[in-house]
Amino acid sequence: MTADTKKRIAAERALEFVEDGMVVGLGTGSTAEHFINLLAEQVWQGLSVVGVATSIRTAELARERGIPLKEIDEVLGINLTVDGADEVDPQLRLIKGGGGALLREKLIAAASDRMIVIIDDSKLVDPLGQFPLPIEVVPFGFSVTSQKICEALAVEGCLGHRATLREGGDGVPFETDSGHYILDCACDTIPKPEALADRLCRIPGVVEHGLFLGMASLVIIGRTDGTEIIEALTKS
Ligand code: 5RP
Repeated sequence: MTADTKKRIAAERALEFVEDGMVVGLGTGSTAEHFINLLAEQVWQGLSVVGVATSIRTAELARERGIPLKEIDEVLGINLTVDGADEVDPQLRLIKGGGGALLREKLIAAASDRMIVIIDDSKLVDPLGQFPLPIEVVPFGFSVTSQKICEALAVEGCLGHRATLREGGDGVPFETDSGHYILDCACDTIPKPEALADRLCRIPGVVEHGLFLGMASLVIIGRTDGTEIIEALTKS
């Protein structure tokens, strides 16, 4: 079974958690796209939901597929968000942002009663850190910010501590939907994700980092022999 098929079966399972009348946060990335396509099929068959998109790309896809959308500021709350992840550890801590949407993804996950993460089994790791940690920064002074981030990574025991400015296809810096840059930070391992998250938040110029801690309520893993669900003990 390919990784893409595993992503699709995880997305199919997530549909079971969607109820009529819900406001649903729609994630970004190839796994989330499976979920959006499957949700759209339910909408065509009469399911009534409102989507809140985590990126312009996701909004375009959802609109194209006929899912009614609202902006985050137009809804009173979000019942459920379904999104992918780049890494998930046994405590359901995540690295996200491979698709560059981490800021809006985090805002929408934080505004949701429940965040369901859908992944293929290659995303399960222990410890976090093999996937370069995306950090969204303001363009002004990004090299100074980058230096501070590398110092923070070193202090928190990340062996890699290198930050690379993400580029768009044309050699210019990649810009997020909010007009920021992304620094992809090689860590190798992140021994203390909470301590690193706290330290990163204190660096001027850092808008958001890709560590999602205590946010996932449930992770659905697509495996060759079916899906497995891991539930968080509590949602902080
Ligand atoms: C986008 C993300 C994605 O959820 C993450 O990159 C996983 O992507 P994919 O589902 O394509 O493997 O965080 O910012």
